[in-house]
Amino acid sequence: MDEKIWDNVDNYLAASLVGEDDVLRGALQASEAAGLPSIAVSPLQGRFLHLLARLAGARHILEIGTLGGYSAIWMGRALPSDGRLVSLELEPRHAEVARANLDRAGLSGVAEVRVGPALQALPGLAAQFGERFFDLAFIDADKANIPAYFSWALRLTRPGGVVVVDNVVRDGRVADEASSDPSVRGVRRLFEAISGDPSVLATALQTVGVKGYDGFALALVGAGPALA
Ligand code: SAH
Ligand code: DHB
Ligand code: MG
Repeated sequence: MDEKIWDNVDNYLAASLVGEDDVLRGALQASEAAGLPSIAVSPLQGRFLHLLARLAGARHILEIGTLGGYSAIWMGRALPSDGRLVSLELEPRHAEVARANLDRAGLSGVAEVRVGPALQALPGLAAQFGERFFDLAFIDADKANIPAYFSWALRLTRPGGVVVVDNVVRDGRVADEASSDPSVRGVRRLFEAISGDPSVLATALQTVGVKGYDGFALALVGAGPALA
């Protein structure tokens, strides 16, 4: 199928349902102007993350992989005024752009960006907030470390909380069991970990649209074994 139709439908749905505002558009423009890669979630996916946060009644959100703060703005807008979003970002330049974008979104009171390798920051979050602090975790950084991020997310998220992982389909490469691509291997190890953990109830959804062909994994933490 022609990928153009994915874009057309994505743009139609986004125009019908989302109506991206100046702050979100401005965040993408500032990211582009600063030379950040165009790999933020799409407007419809941003709304999806926002909806998940609202459905989960999230007060505390963890993000791994901030980039310019586009997804952080979507999720941060779902928080109550005393809520908290902590986003982890390796690149100081990305974090700087994200902080400015979050500030313009009026979210600097609830959202913070911590700079450095996420694997170094995560133990500090457990020490500072305790385990089970977060209601929602969004994993969207380097894909080779997804299994480690997921394991941390399970520790840091309360039972009944939700963990979302971006980019789990990778143009379909996830189904290649012989792949030597570290990103694909990272995602495949995620699904192995999930399938070996009866306390996690999970699914994965393939997506197409302006971001190409990819997908999300969604996991309910501490849900007990799947009934079906
Ligand atoms: N969630 C963002 C997109 C994130 S892109 C959005 O949808 O708007 C992935 C980000 O992860 C990049 O900014 C990259 O610098 C960051 N990243 C890569 N490796 C990382 C690591 N080890 N620790 C923290 N962040 C990392
Ligand atoms: C890449 C990373 C992402 O998080 C994404 O959504 C798309 C692409 C990348 O590193 O290429
Ligand atoms: Mg992503």
